[in-house]
Amino acid sequence: MLPFDVYPLWDIEPVRGEGCYLYDKNGVRYLDFYGGHAVISVGHTHPRYVQRVTEQLNRLAFYSNAVQNSLQRQLAERLGEASGYPHFSLFLCNSGAEANENAIKLASFDTGKKKVLAFGKAFHGRTSGAVAATDNPKIVAPFNLTPNVEFAPLNDVEAVEAKLQTGEFCAVIIEGIQGVGGIIMPDDAFLRQLRARCSEHGVRLILDEIQSGYGRTGKFFAHQWAGIEPDIITTAKGMANGFPIGGVLISPEFKPVHSMLGTTFGGNHLACAAALAALEIFEEERILSNVAATGALLESELRSVAGVKELRGRGLMVGMEMEKPTGELRKKLLFEHKIFTGAAGTHVIRLLPPLCAGKPQVDELMEALRKAVK
Ligand SMILES: Cc1ncc(COP(=O)(O)O)c(C=O)c1O
Repeated sequence: MLPFDVYPLWDIEPVRGEGCYLYDKNGVRYLDFYGGHAVISVGHTHPRYVQRVTEQLNRLAFYSNAVQNSLQRQLAERLGEASGYPHFSLFLCNSGAEANENAIKLASFDTGKKKVLAFGKAFHGRTSGAVAATDNPKIVAPFNLTPNVEFAPLNDVEAVEAKLQTGEFCAVIIEGIQGVGGIIMPDDAFLRQLRARCSEHGVRLILDEIQSGYGRTGKFFAHQWAGIEPDIITTAKGMANGFPIGGVLISPEFKPVHSMLGTTFGGNHLACAAALAALEIFEEERILSNVAATGALLESELRSVAGVKELRGRGLMVGMEMEKPTGELRKKLLFEHKIFTGAAGTHVIRLLPPLCAGKPQVDELMEALRKAVK
């Protein structure tokens, strides 16, 4: 049997990682400005992370959600404090898409309604409901097409109002910053209006912070730049620095009912230990301040790069829209300069480095970029 061939692969095999760097089987070093798709938060093989996960693995890796698991309580408490949501509660699952499925389900249970409003260029994952709320017909199978999801243009509050007035919607789902769509920001004012309109119409506001959250923009969640409080926040990617986990942060307005949500693997001991290790490192190494400082430096440096049409994003979630298609440039960065970057569409380079990246990594990227764009 072979792997099902759904990924276009670079012909490179990283076999080891350390901080912001990856090493292939020949010992060649690569600078990671992609973070394995915004996943690496505290750095590859951080010693404290490795130690915490190893200790947990030696103690107990998994038991079911039918018994007490104090690691889940510790994680909920620590995440509540770190994120500014100590009054919310936490449901743990295994991925971003699964977090969004559960968020939509909760909003639907809560309101008794079935329609979800999403936005143009949105990406919310590949499972049934999440992909239905994703604005990309190429990845939506006929089975996933549903009249229960409608789309509005981003930053168009009147379009949202027209939809919500129908009274059919249980939720609006929006990314803190659109990632896959090309690092496209909802305006802060739009987010505030969205919050107000959802409250007026009794519709639940779901903030998908799977890519934009967990410190990536310099605040814990990207929506916190707008000063709003959603009803539900979804998270995954950076949460456990690469160990699969997803989380749904739920406002105290929702009342849990036994069995309304559930999962076999979600919140397992190993995942909780990995997520706790990440949060401990966030605090000890002041990851949020590091993201703000490194992000500001990166932005000011990128402004002087030739061929950049527009720079978007916040902190270490940067979209560099180029005047020309980016395929050749990314290949040069990877094969000549040994730097991983991400893409969105044909013209946008996405920079999503580990959140521990600093000036040495920015300098290395800039030196390579200046040569590569010539
Ligand atoms: C904003 C957003 N939501 C959801 C997802 C889906 O997450 P996962 O691949 O863990 O299911 C992603 C993944 O890229 C994402 O960027």
